[in-house]
Amino acid sequence: MSNQIVTEKLSVTLKVYDPTTTANYRQYDEDFIHTKAYLHLASKLKFLCQSFERPITILDVGCGTGRYFHVLTHVDRLIAMDYSENMLLQAQHPFREAEIPMDKIVFHQGNFYDFDFGNQSFDFIYSIGVLGEHTVFDEHVCNKLFKLLRPGGKLYFTVVDLQSRKSFKRKIMEALYPFTPIGIKRILDKRWETCYLTWTQLDNIVSKQGFEVYQIERYISEDPKWKGVHLECIATKL
Ligand SMILES: C[S@@+](CC[C@H](N)C(=O)[O-])C[C@H]1O[C@@H](n2cnc3c(N)ncnc32)[C@H](O)[C@@H]1O
Repeated sequence: MSNQIVTEKLSVTLKVYDPTTTANYRQYDEDFIHTKAYLHLASKLKFLCQSFERPITILDVGCGTGRYFHVLTHVDRLIAMDYSENMLLQAQHPFREAEIPMDKIVFHQGNFYDFDFGNQSFDFIYSIGVLGEHTVFDEHVCNKLFKLLRPGGKLYFTVVDLQSRKSFKRKIMEALYPFTPIGIKRILDKRWETCYLTWTQLDNIVSKQGFEVYQIERYISEDPKWKGVHLECIATKL
């Protein structure tokens, strides 16, 4: 099962993450730790892992090169999944590999949208720079994440804030949208097709999928390689 935008994005992912790009991505992991974005994301991940106070099973959705493996604590088992085989190859030797219990990591290649995790469940699931960015975060994905979590489990993920990406021209076009002919509407719909989400869209999706406790925060990334606004969501399955 998949949908059109997921399929389109997967072909982009295959093209973008070629051996050269993934090697460069892995190389940048070494510099990334000097950015404010790293400090921010690493402290969130550490805090969430430590909040369990016991060994935990973790799922990294779209792990890429395994940039954050070294900050995880209390790891009993880490499932690291990604669609790109090239990224997964890099993740076999992640940043600060010597500090990571590599024997506790299981790698899976696949599309999260329809990947079958069997009867596995997780205490902590995180996904950075993937959902609502390179692939969709919709009701199906949110429900899947909810089901994959154990009771008391926590979810942490980022999506790109669509509102921050809208130009002045687009805001005007959106105001005029209800009055435009159907043909123009179709063109605009196609042009505006994206995985990015507004705060309200994200809030609507998360609130409807069983997460009673969650918070969404806006984070402005200072990473020189990715300047922009992310919406960050932390949700707990009671
Ligand atoms: C910007 S990278 C982020 C990697 C890593 N999370 C990080 O923060 O460094 C996006 C990753 O998402 C993966 N990806 C994109 N769509 C995916 C999908 N549908 N299922 C699994 N992984 C996906 C890509 O292959 C890529 O490794």
